[in-house]
Parts: sequence; C-alpha cells; structure tokens
Amino acid sequence: MSVKTDLLSILEANREQDLSGEELAGELGVSRTSIWKAIKTLKSEGYQIEAVNNRGYRLLEMTDVLSEEGIRLELDDRCRNFPIKVYKTIDSTNVEAKRIALENGVHGTILLAEEQTKGKGRLGRSFYSPANTGIYMSILLKPELAGSDAILITTAASVAVCRGIQKVLGICPQIKWVNDVYWENRKICGILTEAVSDFEVGKIDTVVVGIGINYKTEDFPQDLEKRAGSVAKDTSVPRNRLAAAVINEFWEIYSHLTDRSFMKEYREYSNVIGREISFLEQDVWREGRALDIDDDGGLVVECLEEEGRKQVRVLHTGEITLRVRE
Ligand code: BTN
Repeated sequence: MSVKTDLLSILEANREQDLSGEELAGELGVSRTSIWKAIKTLKSEGYQIEAVNNRGYRLLEMTDVLSEEGIRLELDDRCRNFPIKVYKTIDSTNVEAKRIALENGVHGTILLAEEQTKGKGRLGRSFYSPANTGIYMSILLKPELAGSDAILITTAASVAVCRGIQKVLGICPQIKWVNDVYWENRKICGILTEAVSDFEVGKIDTVVVGIGINYKTEDFPQDLEKRAGSVAKDTSVPRNRLAAAVINEFWEIYSHLTDRSFMKEYREYSNVIGREISFLEQDVWREGRALDIDDDGGLVVECLEEEGRKQVRVLHTGEITLRVRE
C-alpha cells in the first residue's frame, strides 16, 4: 500500500468532510509533505479535492473516478476481499480477465476500466466504451456448476444490474430478454458472458461476466444514437457506488444461484413478457408473442407457423436477435 492509496481510502470513506492534514499524516505515520504530495497526485488523476487553509482536505461528492478504494469501501463482507483491478484504458476487460485466468487468476477477481478501446458485445459486435462516462466491468469466476446452471450467470448479472440501479439511483430499469438492461426505452447496459473451457478435463474452467453500463455517456455514434441511452445523466452519484452495488447484488444472487429463486425477479423486470415480438433465427425473421421466461432463462413464445397454426416454443440465447414490436 502507498500513501496515495491509503489516503484515498480515507478520503473515499469521508466524502464531503474536512480532514486535517496533520491528523491524516498522524494516522498514516507520514509527514504532512507526503500527504500534500499524495493529494497533488490524486488531483492530477481527476479527484476533486478542496484544500482549505486550517481545515484540511475535502473530497468532493462530485468526484467520479473509478477506484479500487472507492468500490471496496462499499462492498459486503462476502466479496470485500476479492482482488479489484482498475484500468485507465484497456482493450477489453473481458479479454484482460481471460488473460488473467490463464495466469491462475482467482475466483472473484473484478476488473474495471475507465475506457475500452475494443469493448466486446454479443454476437461479435463491439461495445462503445468511451472514457470516464461508463462502467465497464468484468468478474472472473471459477464456477463449480453444471453447464445448465452456468447459463444462469448472465441472467443473474442482469438482475444484479437492475437491483443495483434501483438501490443506488432510485429508478426501476427493465430487462429485454436475454440480458440487455433498458431505461426509458433505451439500452443502458449490455452483458457478455464468456466461458473458457479446460478441454483436458472437459469442463468449464473459467467464466467471465462482462457488464457494460452507459452511465453518463452523452454522445453515441450515429448507429447507436436512437437505441442507446445513459442511466445517470442527471445525478452526482459516483460510478464507484453503482459498481459496488452491482457487485454486491451479483454475489448475493450467485450464493444461491442454483435455487433459481431470482428468476421471479427477472420476470418482474422483463419488458418482453406479454409483448408481440420478432426474432431472427438462422437468418429468418419470425413473429410471435412472448408468453413467459422459464426457470432456465428460456423465452417461451407462441409463434404463428406458415400454415397459420400456433405453436409454443422455447427460445434459448445464442444466435437470436429479438425485437419487441410496438
Ligand atoms: C452487448 O450488449 O452486446 C454486451 C456488451 C458487454 C460489454 C461489456 S463492457 C465490460 C466487458 N468488456 C467487454 O469487452 N465487454 C463487456
């Protein structure tokens, strides 16, 4: 631990409070000059710290820099000690998580980035990840799960995002099957789960859950501007707080994943059940009505077959693109 990281932990735990330089120096066992230097470095990294003569230093609430210290502070006991890595910029936190997995990365490792230069989306798409306005996060798991239960990890992540947003921002988002989160009819979060198999043992060795939240992004590229939105444009809540809330909720659900009890909540957050839908399956658009989502995350759909017959089918994630019709 350095003076800077120790100091940041104290500042994050006492946002909007004046902390005397002398007391900080005493607490950390360093000189006042070291504190001053660490404050200077933190300021250069984007932390908004007010230095007031005789009153000391104050971390302003409006500071919004992702940090291990700011996130760990808000984590529940069950995940407080997991490794957290925060990158200023990276190709993709999912790719980095897979690299770390190959080097014996541990279960529970959390990676976050201020910016991704090659953010990955589902179905080979990219995920727009501009600097300082989003939460781009991956969680590395070494699951002891059957394949049929591993599928639930993505579903769990989308419920965790919704719960986190509801708790921290006080708004109620929706889930578009299977794992896109929407707010005010715009996609504000996408989730990409990737598995790394150990072919010798024939089982899933590592799962990486990647969560991308558009937090304050204002300008989207033209191809996204009609569909994408941001969840927290008008708030001063720091991203660390939402990131921590999502992590807490994810681990809460993960601790009892196989009982599937969270699937009830998933259905409640769904904006698809009861709606007319179109889905692209093997290059053909089909139409139907979404009836339900089963406990394995399958979308139960009533489809109209060519002969005019109705047939109930269960769609599984993978190669399906879904549109909800107005
Ligand atoms: C999608 O909407 O298609 C899924 C998007 C997933 C984006 C997240 S951001 C963090 C993690 N790293 C990536 O490269 N992708 C995921």
